[in-house]
Amino acid sequence: MINGKTNTYGIVGYPVGHSFSPMIHNYLADEIDINMVYIPLPIENKRFEMAIKALKTLSFSGCNVTVPYKMDVIGQLDVVDKNAELIGAVNTVKILDDKSYGYNTDYLGLIQSIKDEGVSLEGQNVIIIGAGGAARSVAVMCATEHAKSISIVNRTLVKAESIATLINEHFDCKVSAITYEDLNMKNDFTVAIQTTSIGMYPNVDNTPIVDMSILSKLDFAIDIVYNPRETKFMRDLNQMGVKTIGGIGMLFYQAIKAFEIWNDVTVDGELCQRAYERFLEYLDQ
Ligand code: ATR
Repeated sequence: MINGKTNTYGIVGYPVGHSFSPMIHNYLADEIDINMVYIPLPIENKRFEMAIKALKTLSFSGCNVTVPYKMDVIGQLDVVDKNAELIGAVNTVKILDDKSYGYNTDYLGLIQSIKDEGVSLEGQNVIIIGAGGAARSVAVMCATEHAKSISIVNRTLVKAESIATLINEHFDCKVSAITYEDLNMKNDFTVAIQTTSIGMYPNVDNTPIVDMSILSKLDFAIDIVYNPRETKFMRDLNQMGVKTIGGIGMLFYQAIKAFEIWNDVTVDGELCQRAYERFLEYLDQ
């Protein structure tokens, strides 16, 4: 029931018509009786700065930020979480007493989805495949979760080097940039995290690694791609007996983490499970 005291949230991006976030946040609010509403806020490029200012003017309590504004929003906020700043992207904004606070719940969501599978990055030798924006947030995640070492492999080596420098400067974790040729000669990795768009629908038969047997000794692997649910990278590893985690959990938990930040609550396991089922039904529609 919307009334005079309802807190207002929304998703800022362009386009936002495909977003599952309005469904999931309104569902959670309903289930635990929180007086909030969450609406789509499609904002065209030239109006973005105005729109972020307007959220304060209109007494919004917060918003999610999606493509193409996750980087640009940082300059518009009063306070930005340290790890979100390192990642260079904010997807969750909380507005409290006329101050805006920015967070990155994409990486927090990935941490939760890894925990859910009963595995951990602590003490692991991680190979990150790719060096784009997603790889940067994965590298910060590995460092905060106390990985022992991180290697970043990328076609364009300077991009991997730039992430390695960033993490080495801010965390006590050994990070290096390597080429695909180097990768063929090293196989002491215990976890692989695939962050490129290779293998994403419609290119479902592609993987970034030609000889997947070099990864056969992993404890587990993650592919942050969520469409398809099982990528070729995951399928090949599963066939070699390596446990894999896809990107769908990260997508779901970034919403849960945002909801928890806004409302200072913890969404319990049972509600999470029901929300997850709703979320999957929604995606399959
Ligand atoms: P995002 O922000 O989603 O991570 P991005 O910044 O465009 O996207 O990064 C895409 C990543 O996929 C990069 O690491 C890119 O490698 P380059 O930096 O060398 O471009 C990698 N990638 C994309 N297509 C690739 C391909 N065909 N072969 C190898 N790497 C590829």
